[in-house]
Amino acid sequence: MNILELESLNYAYPGARRGEAPIAAVADVSFQIAEGENVGLVGANGAGKSTLLKLICGLLEPTGGHVSVAGTEVRKETLGQIRKDLGYVFQDSDDQLFTSTVYDDIAFGPRNYGYTPEQTRAAVEKALAAVHIESLKDRAVFRLSGGEKKLAAIATVLSMGSRLMLLDEPSVGLDPRNRRNLMEVIQSLPCAKLIASHDLDFIYDTCSRVVVLFKGRAVRVGDTRQILADRAFLEANGLELPLSFVTR
Ligand SMILES: Nc1ncnc2c1ncn2[C@@H]1O[C@H](COP(=O)(O)OP(=O)(O)O)[C@@H](O)[C@H]1O
Ligand SMILES: [Mg+2]
Repeated sequence: MNILELESLNYAYPGARRGEAPIAAVADVSFQIAEGENVGLVGANGAGKSTLLKLICGLLEPTGGHVSVAGTEVRKETLGQIRKDLGYVFQDSDDQLFTSTVYDDIAFGPRNYGYTPEQTRAAVEKALAAVHIESLKDRAVFRLSGGEKKLAAIATVLSMGSRLMLLDEPSVGLDPRNRRNLMEVIQSLPCAKLIASHDLDFIYDTCSRVVVLFKGRAVRVGDTRQILADRAFLEANGLELPLSFVTR
């Protein structure tokens, strides 16, 4: 079964002032993600990656087309229902982590979803272990490094048992060691992922398929190895070959 289906998805931001033309940000995008699959969403700055993720998780309402998660169409009325299947990892971890400790942030979703205290504890411990930050459990969120915050943010999604994780620019601002560690963690998680990034090396190592966005349109959907090796195509779409190709 497909965990995600997009059908002719469109979104335009309203003009900033009255009478101003709307800004088309996502145009006629269709693709699917199978259960457990990792897909990269690549494109230059302003291509529409973040907007697309917000449409999928219901933070924005499409101006046309459809999004379904685990067979349920994403609409205001269904958000409660899909919340369990879908997790969104914000680009800025400070937007995600908002209580005092790592434990409480990870427990927030399960508690709100009506888990018992024992179920909550089990879900939090499993999530901490999956991203290898058991030792940070009682740490104040504001004392974490950028890399630790990113892992804690991922754990807040894992504690809900999501089947689809959306990640917006997960590698931005991480040093090489933390970036490598994040890559390994992402590879080890069994849920499906849609990873928006202009870090093509990161996508190359984590995703089997990519969707290339250019000015809001999905100009190509296919095999990562084929598409990310196509220098002329990438350059025409405002992207560069992954470094691993350049130095080869
Ligand atoms: N809140 C907003 N209001 C108006 N236009 C926006 C807003 N956010 C993004 N845009 C525009 O929508 C387009 C896509 O932006 P975005 O989804 O952020 O792209 P990306 O994440 O690929 O850099 C850009 O042209 C951007 O300027
Ligand atoms: Mg973005």
